[in-house]
Amino acid sequence: MNNAIAVMDSGVGGLTVVKEILRQLPQEKIVYFGDTARTPYGPRDPEEVIRFTREIVDYLIHFKPKMLVIACNTATAVALEDIRSRVDIPVVGVIKPGARAAIKSSVNGKIGVIGTIGTIRSGAYETALKEISPWTEVVSLACPRLVPLVENDQFESEEAYTVVRESLIELQKHTMDCLILGCTHYPFLAPIIAEVMGPEVKLISSDEETAREVSTILSYGNQLAQNEDVPVHQFFCSGDPVIFRKIASAWLDKQLERSPVVWQVPSI
Ligand code: DGL
Repeated sequence: MNNAIAVMDSGVGGLTVVKEILRQLPQEKIVYFGDTARTPYGPRDPEEVIRFTREIVDYLIHFKPKMLVIACNTATAVALEDIRSRVDIPVVGVIKPGARAAIKSSVNGKIGVIGTIGTIRSGAYETALKEISPWTEVVSLACPRLVPLVENDQFESEEAYTVVRESLIELQKHTMDCLILGCTHYPFLAPIIAEVMGPEVKLISSDEETAREVSTILSYGNQLAQNEDVPVHQFFCSGDPVIFRKIASAWLDKQLERSPVVWQVPSI
């Protein structure tokens, strides 16, 4: 079935999930919306995040997607069930896949989680981790200064190194063998986070496991794309299209090599 997979985020973060979906399912067509004009979602009230998520989903649904991926932890934490009740296609979030990946990888059951204020305040990772293994010890920390570094294309800068180091100081007082990157923007900063946390701590990102869930659901439903032609992806953002396109095309690089891409700024 050649309808697109719709993916949304507050900005460029969801592209980390798109990259993995296209790596695992290169025949699939993506329609992406990054709400770059209203990023970050992290410090906002849950009601506002739910409203923004509904608006984006209402927009994306016009493309008749076969599946929706909420590639934003903040929106997954507060809006996943609401969105599931509003649409009649499968809706995949990123928190349960992230928790699963961490449980698979942890040896000592001590797991760290970093995310936005909204995600950490919701306790959604603790719940998801303890649902799988009640014996897990979880240390959580909100890192609100990280998302703007990514959205401003500063994720490889000196400043990024300083901000990451300062943000993670509290976490370094605890023992853990895994650290969940509980915000889809954080994989952009993974090399710096890895350096700051050191080799004993494995970084866990939900992108791979989320793409696996997408793949499993489509495969069970007999809905995997069977394209004779290369898929044409569509990327929308609500803010500055120049910086969005720059970050997206560099990040997706190989994944876009074979596919034409349409870039647009809609009014939702
Ligand atoms: N990328 C998002 C997340 O995974 C949202 C970041 C934000 O807008 O604060 O939480």
